[in-house]
Amino acid sequence: MPKAAYHFPRGFLWGTATAAHQVEGNNTNNNWWAWEQDGHTVDKSGLACDWWGGRWKEDFDRAAEAGQNAHRLSVEWSRIQPDPDRWDENALDRYRQMLRGLRERGMTAMVTLHHFSDPLWLMEQGGWENGETPGKFADFVRKTMEALKEYTTLWVTINEPNVYAYSGYVAGAFPPGKKDMKTALRVMTNLVRGHAQAYRAIHEVQREARVGMAVNYRSIFPANPKSPLDRWVAKTQSGIFNDLFPRAAQDGKVKFLYKTINVPEAAGTQDFIGLNYYSRDYVTFDLRLPGELFGRRAYAEDADLSDTGFIANEPAGFFEALKWARGFGKPIIVTENGVEDADDHMRPRYLAQHIHQLWRAVNFNWRIKGYFHWSLVDNFEWERGWTQRFGLWELDVETQARRKRPSADLYAEICKENGLSSEMVEKYCPEALEKIFPE
Ligand code: GAL
Repeated sequence: MPKAAYHFPRGFLWGTATAAHQVEGNNTNNNWWAWEQDGHTVDKSGLACDWWGGRWKEDFDRAAEAGQNAHRLSVEWSRIQPDPDRWDENALDRYRQMLRGLRERGMTAMVTLHHFSDPLWLMEQGGWENGETPGKFADFVRKTMEALKEYTTLWVTINEPNVYAYSGYVAGAFPPGKKDMKTALRVMTNLVRGHAQAYRAIHEVQREARVGMAVNYRSIFPANPKSPLDRWVAKTQSGIFNDLFPRAAQDGKVKFLYKTINVPEAAGTQDFIGLNYYSRDYVTFDLRLPGELFGRRAYAEDADLSDTGFIANEPAGFFEALKWARGFGKPIIVTENGVEDADDHMRPRYLAQHIHQLWRAVNFNWRIKGYFHWSLVDNFEWERGWTQRFGLWELDVETQARRKRPSADLYAEICKENGLSSEMVEKYCPEALEKIFPE
């Protein structure tokens, strides 16, 4: 077969994404730490990847040497504001050092201001159920911005507000472990307000800032496309899970089933769409699942599944997600995409097939600015603890030793080449060659 390559535009951002609680370690002052101590997770985060102890340096070295020109990290609210009336300047200084560390390695930083974890003191006041939380979040954002603004102009206000609300208030797997749709709707509305106020706070401090949310897009298909009920439930679930937040940030309306809540301050509050994509579900109408809006989701029967069955390799869903994101008329940044795969048998093809779909979208001239793989090194996977390994580098949690997986080399070749070639696919995942470079 002749050699071929798919290239990306000059200046495309290639990086990995991480989140404070998942990598820092000893985040004792937030709700996730408490949730872990109460036995709700399979393991505890403990030292995590010990970034707070300084191991971010070696990990940033790895990323830079592997050709990555960007990194998305998050700051931990409970460290910066350990009590309602106290700011911790040392914590801010630590984040300044990390961001300087990226700059010194020639990497663009993207900073997420909220990635799932909340300060304990905030949760004692009701967390995002409380109507005062959006304003408190904006105060925290303003303070953090003042300290960090010289290091980046790329900001994510809230990571996956849809997953935060669903997992914490519908499924009950995240703290506070509630299963109550009404509360979930209040939390969602407050998250929209929090995003909107943060958006404005950021732009007040830094006019040239580019601000967005990172939304987890699930491709949701009717299991039986001929069934009107399956089609209805797919559309309904998708309308809430995928659309609610970015749409509210466009038009200031929170639309939930047949209800509309006006949040006028949210209109026009996204400069880009942050897209997290992992997989696609097939949904069947099921009256027994009111909490899931009457839909039972499953992967395709013949799906290419990850280690624990958490993710199906569905690259076509990624293209669909990009097309959806394009509908908002803003630039797109892929803020997360990846798979759990301890022995790296699946990740190379998952990565190559998703980059191929990304290129297809880029090739239509859709305004896609970068791609952040989840994740740089294995990190603490929330309620699933250390059972899922998403890193390009493997982590030995006991010794803190890192070991490179083959996918790290594949991704390095992609980053350095600013593209994906048939030679790379032949070398790392020949089984996907026909799909990516058909004869
Ligand atoms: C996302 C989340 C990340 C990471 C990833 C893999 O939903 O933003 O923090 O956990 O999933 O499970």
